[in-house]
Amino acid sequence: MIRFDDGAGYEQMMGKWSRLAGDIFLDWMQAPAGLRWLDIGCGNGAFTETLIERCAPSAISGIDPSEGQLLYAQQRAACRMADFQQGDAMTLPYGNAGFDAAVMALVLFFVPEPAKGVAEMMRVVRPGGTVSAYVWDLLEGGFPLVAIQEQMRAMGKTPMLPPSPEVSRMPVLRQTWTDAGLLSVQTTVINVQRTFSGFDDYWHTALLGSSVGPVIKALDANEFDTLRSGVQQRLPLQADGQLVISARAHAVTGVVPG
Ligand SMILES: C[S@@+](CC[C@H](N)C(=O)[O-])C[C@H]1O[C@@H](n2cnc3c(N)ncnc32)[C@H](O)[C@@H]1O
Repeated sequence: MIRFDDGAGYEQMMGKWSRLAGDIFLDWMQAPAGLRWLDIGCGNGAFTETLIERCAPSAISGIDPSEGQLLYAQQRAACRMADFQQGDAMTLPYGNAGFDAAVMALVLFFVPEPAKGVAEMMRVVRPGGTVSAYVWDLLEGGFPLVAIQEQMRAMGKTPMLPPSPEVSRMPVLRQTWTDAGLLSVQTTVINVQRTFSGFDDYWHTALLGSSVGPVIKALDANEFDTLRSGVQQRLPLQADGQLVISARAHAVTGVVPG
């Protein structure tokens, strides 16, 4: 099981990726200022902070099952206005129709029953409000640490996946929104790039990853060296010694009927 216990480690690894993807997602959404937002699976607040800075909400709530992530989120100066609480996407502790917009940033594939998560988002958003999400393209090479996953497979190891990876496929994601009864469903592809100062920078950051980190730490010394050198061969440096990694996410949005 992929666990998120370390908000500070998350910030260095996935938080930076989240911000890169979140900026493009919010450009695409073009949400007006002054909305009441719900950020489901808010984690350590990386996307919540981006939302506050970019969309000037009138109110914002964040919910996540991980205490370690929430502790980090609560300490962010930019998130002072946010109301964070512990909870699960499949049973949201909010009344009906109290938000203008609900979003899951890099979360839907962690929800054991994505359709139930989407139904809960629809329940808590008012008619005419938006229900949105974006997910790494996990099964088609869009995950930021795909080179490590591929090298693990080449070594006969199974990378950890979240419980609902199929929903990261664009047709499945779109169908989940239309099956839920959301209107005006739109999708887009989000391409991002992150520059590392070199391979060591990339590798040490990757060790903080919630999915690959625990698998790598459980390897013996020989396996560790084989994995590291195999990944290094898959990721050629630029002429200036820097390493540029690309990733891809799928985004979806729809409008609550009524
Ligand atoms: C990749 S992180 C994304 C965090 C944040 N949204 C961001 O963009 O940085 C995935 C988050 O989903 C949370 N999560 C996992 N299962 C969940 C569930 N059933 N309901 C709500 N959140 C969940 C995890 O605790 C974790 O913080």
